[in-house]
Amino acid sequence: MRRIVCFDFAPLDQLAVEDGPDLLPAPHQVVVAVRAAGVNYVDALFVQGRYQIRPPVPFSPGSEVAGEVTAVGDEVDGIAVGDRVLASVGLGGYAEQVAAPATSVIPLPSALSFTQAAAMLQSYSTALFALTRRTAAVAGEWLLVLGAGGGVGLAALDVARAMELRTIAAASTGAKLDAARAAGAEHTIDYETDDLKARARELSDDGVDIVFDPVGGTHAEQALRALTVGGRHLVIGFASGEIPRLPANQVLLNNRTVVGVDWGAWAMHNPEENHALTRELMTAVEAGSLLPPEPSTYPLEKAAEALADLEGRRVTGKIVLVP
Ligand SMILES: NC(=O)c1ccc[n+]([C@@H]2O[C@H](COP(=O)([O-])OP(=O)(O)OC[C@H]3O[C@@H](n4cnc5c(N)ncnc54)[C@H](OP(=O)(O)O)[C@@H]3O)[C@@H](O)[C@H]2O)c1
Repeated sequence: MRRIVCFDFAPLDQLAVEDGPDLLPAPHQVVVAVRAAGVNYVDALFVQGRYQIRPPVPFSPGSEVAGEVTAVGDEVDGIAVGDRVLASVGLGGYAEQVAAPATSVIPLPSALSFTQAAAMLQSYSTALFALTRRTAAVAGEWLLVLGAGGGVGLAALDVARAMELRTIAAASTGAKLDAARAAGAEHTIDYETDDLKARARELSDDGVDIVFDPVGGTHAEQALRALTVGGRHLVIGFASGEIPRLPANQVLLNNRTVVGVDWGAWAMHNPEENHALTRELMTAVEAGSLLPPEPSTYPLEKAAEALADLEGRRVTGKIVLVP
């Protein structure tokens, strides 16, 4: 089976394609034939050694896959060969096969294609975790989403639509703003050309209740300043490459709160609560209240190109690799 391998922390074009034997499941594991592997911004950081955690090399990147079970190990109950599943694997997803702990595998709702499913777990879990566990967003509140045409941005808009929040999407291109509108954004702001703070305050009458910020950089302070009394600024990530220094006086003013959001660490330390979060997502998908968009697809061997496009800000929505 083929897989993408990072032999050393290096530029993306150093990622290699390796062929090896088919996988066999150890006890408590299943083998999944990968039909789609989610590509996440963090994967690019991992393979270049730019993430807080550095896995031992060599390794295969990719934390989430969707596919069919092809083999079941001893001591596994309730999963059978042929099941359509979604698996959260940490690493190793950029491959034709993964061997995953049975506990990390969940049945795929019939409403989801393999490609939709592989693109949604990380982005939707982050959005739902942020809006329900790190703050308690209430129907009717105003949510400003930065990087709204990106993976977590679009997921936040879809979750917000299901929670009946009012939304303003901010992004840098017409295509990304169109995608945000398709995901339910009520208003849009091009933050490359418009005054983000002034426009967000104007659209929401008196400032937004919540900022969802996966971008950081200079937009972060403008967004913080757009918050109303008691507003919450959710720090999701720094896709701009710049960790902002938010002025404490702007937090003090109007009793605002800056809230850190680290879904991955929380999921690792709270597996039961994370299973509940995942079940909540799948139930909402089955009920039709969440509508994950179809991602763009790249062949497995174009993993480096997919990651470069993501880093180069050229992608609208999500990407998956199709082996
Ligand atoms: N905290 C958590 O638990 C958690 C979970 C998942 C992801 N994250 C983080 O959230 C961030 C976004 O992830 P994502 O999957 O949504 O990524 P994505 O799909 O690449 O979207 C990120 C967006 O950021 C904007 N951006 C601004 N400057 C950029 C730059 N220099 N390079 C790339 N993008 C830039 C882009 O929108 P515009 O062009 O419109 O500005 C882009 O659409 C990442 O930092 C990721 O690590 C955090």
